[in-house]
Amino acid sequence: MGTRRQRVVLVTGASSGFGRAIATALAGDGDRVYGSLRAPSPDRCPFDTLAMDVTREDTVTAAVATILERHGRIDAVVNNAGMGIAGAIEDTTVEEARAQFETNFFGTHRVCRAVLPHLRAAGGGTIINISSLAGHVPLPFQGLYSATKFAIEAYSEALRMEVRPFGIRVAMVEPGDYATGFTANRRMTAASGPASAYHDACTRAIARMARDEQANRDLAPVVDAVRLILRSGRPALRHPRATASQRLAVALRPFLPQSLWESLVRGTYGLR
Ligand SMILES: NC(=O)c1ccc[n+]([C@@H]2O[C@H](COP(=O)([O-])OP(=O)(O)OC[C@H]3O[C@@H](n4cnc5c(N)ncnc54)[C@H](OP(=O)(O)O)[C@@H]3O)[C@@H](O)[C@H]2O)c1
Repeated sequence: MGTRRQRVVLVTGASSGFGRAIATALAGDGDRVYGSLRAPSPDRCPFDTLAMDVTREDTVTAAVATILERHGRIDAVVNNAGMGIAGAIEDTTVEEARAQFETNFFGTHRVCRAVLPHLRAAGGGTIINISSLAGHVPLPFQGLYSATKFAIEAYSEALRMEVRPFGIRVAMVEPGDYATGFTANRRMTAASGPASAYHDACTRAIARMARDEQANRDLAPVVDAVRLILRSGRPALRHPRATASQRLAVALRPFLPQSLWESLVRGTYGLR
């Protein structure tokens, strides 16, 4: 049996959650993995680490340059870095909304723009964007977060068609609810306190979301979706990794009356 060439892979947001699990698994598979961290970690990582804040172009450029200096190529990028700012849309300032987009959407765009010239020059590569089921199903009180993931869905589909002639593959993993650092790292908008007209509803909905996230500790489906995409010559665009009932809900949504859909979502999150 022939041995496959070691892939050089960049995984953003590798300090915890999916990013750490993906980077660890790929390094275990024999890939040369660079996991990016915002803050240097005292922990030993089973992969190489690089400093990168996806909201800062200079750090993105420097991290990509380091990998190219060392290896002369990057074979794959997993755009995973992300976070959630929750709260009612009315309670979200433009600055908070911008911060949400700066990380989840523009962060992905910065990294793509930094690596694409090199993938094109090399004649191919793979970009994997970590989207979300919230990129199909907007969640109340995670409206801005959902908007960033809807944006990632549109962006990834368009990018995929643009770069296909250069041998570059683009795919998304769309996780449902998983226990990562996401729940604890979720920020509430500054105006979400008890004075907000939405306080009770928002608190109830986010508590339910947090419970659903923390109930699912097995990150393997998301890690394995990344492995599948990397192995595949022609990966599907979307790789949803959620419970059967969540996947069914997403599949049925276009066929359900909007009023029925909304009452199902409101019921799930205890909203009037
Ligand atoms: N958990 C879920 O249920 C779920 C569901 C669907 C989609 N997702 C998506 O999965 C991805 C990974 O999140 P996770 O669930 O694994 O949460 P997590 O454990 O909180 O990990 C998020 C990672 O992103 C990094 N990050 C945040 N802001 C960054 C920035 N400005 N620059 C660079 N890195 C940054 C964090 O680094 P720091 O340690 O420096 O903050 C951390 O390494 C996100 O895109 C999220 O939207 C999660």
